[in-house]
Amino acid sequence: MKNILCIGAGHVGGPTMAMIASKCPDYTVQVVDINEERIRAWQKGKPPIFETGLEELIAGTRGRNLFFSTDIASGIREADIIFVSVNTPTKTAGVGAGRAADLHFYEETARQIREHSVSDKIVVEKSTIPVRTAEAMTRILHSDRNDVRFEVISNPEFLAEGTAVRDLETPDRVLIGGNDTSTGHRAVQELVEIYAHWVPRDRIVTTNVWSSELSKLAANAFLAQRVSSINAISAIAEATGADIDEVSGVVGMDNRIGSRFLKAGVGYGGSCFRKDILNLCYLAESHGLMEVASYWQQVVDMNDYQEHRFVSRMVRTMFNSLTGKRIAVLGFAFKPDTSDTRESPAIPVCLQLLEEGARLAIHDPKALENARRDLAGTGEERVAFCNDPYEAACGAHAIALLTEWKEYSQLDFERIYRSMERPAFIFDGRNCLDHTLLYEIGFNVLPIGKPERTRL
Ligand code: NAD
Ligand code: UDX
Repeated sequence: MKNILCIGAGHVGGPTMAMIASKCPDYTVQVVDINEERIRAWQKGKPPIFETGLEELIAGTRGRNLFFSTDIASGIREADIIFVSVNTPTKTAGVGAGRAADLHFYEETARQIREHSVSDKIVVEKSTIPVRTAEAMTRILHSDRNDVRFEVISNPEFLAEGTAVRDLETPDRVLIGGNDTSTGHRAVQELVEIYAHWVPRDRIVTTNVWSSELSKLAANAFLAQRVSSINAISAIAEATGADIDEVSGVVGMDNRIGSRFLKAGVGYGGSCFRKDILNLCYLAESHGLMEVASYWQQVVDMNDYQEHRFVSRMVRTMFNSLTGKRIAVLGFAFKPDTSDTRESPAIPVCLQLLEEGARLAIHDPKALENARRDLAGTGEERVAFCNDPYEAACGAHAIALLTEWKEYSQLDFERIYRSMERPAFIFDGRNCLDHTLLYEIGFNVLPIGKPERTRL
């Protein structure tokens, strides 16, 4: 029985290892983290992150061949294969601040692995990292000692939050990058064997290490670029009377383009897109490829513009002043079915609304606690956090819908309208409501990239 260790029990490490343990009973899988609270939650079978099907997945494996621990040293000693799945956020200070990846958590794990290893190991990069990180990792691992050999390979993760279990169970592809040496080939093959327990072979792609590292950054950049592209067109649609959903429907019917990731909205969020594109820009700049960097930078700039444009439109529509007005914010998570608010467009939108002097009443089915943390120290006396969407809307001058939770399309908008100030406005930042019905009820309706329906 081989031992797998994963360092980092977060959104990626936890679910990925749970899937491997479930599909590979012939392996022992241990997940370690420095965060004791997180590990305690996993140990109790109550994952610290919300993912559909995850609790059930670990219920079948925890204590059988899936274990969680804070004892990193002995985990390393016992492991044959070590996945590194720690966070790699954007640097906040020093050279490359605001753009480059902060690899200090990553480097820390390399040093821990070097210190505690007593046998040869395969080290798998699971985190998203700049291209050629495997080289730095290898150098750190082999500095100071020659008795133990480490083979570093790349296996980036493509799961999306909210659908992690499904994405892991039936991935579009699994990518494994290794060195073109006999030990590199052997290490790649070992990982292929693990995934082949449940992933069809033709979906397991093997490449060289640098292609693998770059493919992950490129895939996220392409996805975000599609969202920014349709959002750019949504501004033209608003200016001209076109309907963005009709336009994206037509564009997406072209087989060469495809229909997914063409939904216009208030902007993309999540822990990955912004960080990974900035990482790509920094990488391009550091190779002197300034035009390439500025091309991808536009994808981020367009997202900032879309968030900003949303608030400007609110101000313009509501008679150029939001001072003292109550705005019900429906949805704070960066997308539905998650409590995650990292880089959520709701953060800059709420901050701008507060800057305009508005009072906010925020509702989210799962993310209120994170919203409270994100807005701490930013005019909290003007922010109410509501457990009930009807309470948030009561007495509001406008509703800003920022996350397309299913329950929002099922709300009783007649009741909401009756409880609001007049004229009542709805800014549908995700185009998920029935705009004809809302207009008939009496609302002034302002979707993204569609003609507005106002009574003024
Ligand atoms: P996360 O913040 O949820 O989890 C990372 C964990 O690593 C944390 O619990 C942290 O305590 C732990 N950690 C940090 N340093 C450690 C150390 N020295 N020893 C032990 N544990 C340590 O992050 P995440 O969302 O799981 O992302 C991990 C990586 O995967 C990132 O590089 C990210 O870009 C990438 N990724 C994330 C997603 C996603 O949807 N979240 C998808 C694909 C790839
Ligand atoms: C993304 C990638 O999809 C995943 O492959 C990668 O591993 C991690 O980053 P995630 O951030 O979890 O996953 O969510 P995703 O579903 O991609 O959505 C990201 C953001 O884009 C959300 O804010 C979503 O609302 C927005 N989006 C998505 C749109 O605005 N329009 C779309 O058409 C699709």
